[in-house]
Amino acid sequence: MGKKIKNLDNFTKYMKVLILSFSNNKVNKDSFIPNKKGLTFACVDVCINNLSKRKIEAEHICMNFKNIKKCMACGERGWGSCLKEHKCILDDDFNTIYNLMNDCDGYIFITPVYFWEMSESAKTFFDRLKRCDVFNENSKIKGKKFISIACAGGSGNGTENTLNQFDVLNHFMNMEMIGRIPVTKYNYVEKTNEINKCIENF
Ligand SMILES: Cc1cc2nc3c(=O)[nH]c(=O)nc-3n(C[C@H](O)[C@H](O)[C@H](O)COP(=O)(O)O)c2cc1C
Repeated sequence: MGKKIKNLDNFTKYMKVLILSFSNNKVNKDSFIPNKKGLTFACVDVCINNLSKRKIEAEHICMNFKNIKKCMACGERGWGSCLKEHKCILDDDFNTIYNLMNDCDGYIFITPVYFWEMSESAKTFFDRLKRCDVFNENSKIKGKKFISIACAGGSGNGTENTLNQFDVLNHFMNMEMIGRIPVTKYNYVEKTNEINKCIENF
């Protein structure tokens, strides 16, 4: 039995959180983390374990293994079918994941920090998500809770800038932010607790 919530139509359903991660680094032999995983995958594990303790269904997608092309800004004046039809004409995995986001009740976005920014796969995906959803009056994403996690495994610099990118994304997306967590290889253990605390807010 999972955690029950009311959906937008006031029906009771079991809560489901979608975890999207944006690194393909599954193994890091130099990691300080005991399980020697990459920092992003280690945070995914923390999230899945905590959601399951709270009896919240979780689905994880590693976005680097999905086929997400770059936005072509295909139509007139830079807008394509994303503006009015709220879907993308590109034939790849984007629309399936967008539909899955519509069906889920909350999100956790976990990206590695590259050059003080979210990773390329994250930028590419969120570029297209914004276009499809921002002017969607029937958006099923607006108002839903999310946590952003930035994993900086090098110097540790750039987490704040990366989390700011999520803030800017949300300026347009209008979800409800319930956590923004800067993780480095030095503070991973204490940040695990912070992730747990944020997950309590789902
Ligand atoms: C292209 C590139 C740029 C990076 N830039 C930064 C950076 O700005 N700050 C930082 O602390 N680490 C940086 N790193 C290190 C990554 O944050 C590190 O690999 C981190 O662990 C990513 O998560 P992962 O372990 O899941 O791959 C960079 C790594 C790459 C490959």
